[in-house]
Amino acid sequence: MPLEIESIVLENLYASEETFALRIFAPGIAKQAKPGQFVMLSVPGKFLRRPISIASVSGGRLTLLVRIAGKGTLELSQVSRNTKLKMLGPLGNPFGIPTIGAFLVGGGIGVAPLIFFSNLLKSLNVEHRLLYGEKCGKYVISQRFLPDGVEIFTEDGSKGTIGTVLSGLPNEVATPVYGCGPGKMIEAMIQQSSKFISTVEVSMEQRMACGCGVCQGCAIETKSGYKLVCKDGPIFPLHEIITK
Ligand SMILES: Cc1cc2nc3c(=O)[nH]c(=O)nc-3n(C[C@H](O)[C@H](O)[C@H](O)COP(=O)(O)OP(=O)(O)OC[C@H]3O[C@@H](n4cnc5c(N)ncnc54)[C@H](O)[C@@H]3O)c2cc1C
Ligand code: FES
Repeated sequence: MPLEIESIVLENLYASEETFALRIFAPGIAKQAKPGQFVMLSVPGKFLRRPISIASVSGGRLTLLVRIAGKGTLELSQVSRNTKLKMLGPLGNPFGIPTIGAFLVGGGIGVAPLIFFSNLLKSLNVEHRLLYGEKCGKYVISQRFLPDGVEIFTEDGSKGTIGTVLSGLPNEVATPVYGCGPGKMIEAMIQQSSKFISTVEVSMEQRMACGCGVCQGCAIETKSGYKLVCKDGPIFPLHEIITK
């Protein structure tokens, strides 16, 4: 059951170029949160809240990794300790839990929910690989926020292995795959879908106003009709996604 709370910023830390980590005290939401879910976070001076994935949970604290994309996230990058931010969450459906192993594929800031997921899978002793890609090294999030063993890819080769994050997948993938990243990454996964033998789940992004199924503003067309990203998603089976 989502909670509407006034959360408190504990820390605002540099994570990489244009990216920051908010550590936020929100015990009720932290207790219920599952990997893949998100919160709607208020922005000082703005009417609409912004959807942000839960990147980790520790005690009553949430960590959110945020990349500056416009005015709202720029404003959030400047919040200081003890700032109170209204928060609604946890929202949306979580990733399904694999039993035999998995590939977690994060493109850009899309790695955020997969950090939480990787930590959960470790605690359940589910073998998995977390692949994380960025355009170039300056955007790669500081290791302090990433799980041990993460495999880094950059398109210009300035950090980790050269190539896109999808180049880290084998030619045939027999274990479940979980992806979160920009639209281009999801489109590339659809193009390569013949290599996936097992289930593939992806987290979809859409602009959101309410975050909880009221405004209908986040609808996407899927192979089984229109779905709300905030309520029916954000996690969808890859085979349901229609590219434009
Ligand atoms: C379920 C979900 C989880 C998300 N998790 C994270 C996260 O963990 N970290 C993070 O940094 N960002 C995340 N995002 C994206 C984030 O919500 C947007 O970047 C943010 O709302 C932009 O707000 P703004 O005011 O800074 O930019 P705006 O000025 O509103 O927009 C700037 C640019 O970003 C585009 N944009 C705005 N909202 C979205 C959106 N929802 N999806 C894609 N493009 C958008 C606009 O079209 C425009 O080009 C998530 C989005 C969703 C739907
Ligand atoms: S954001 Fe309002 S219905 Fe999804």
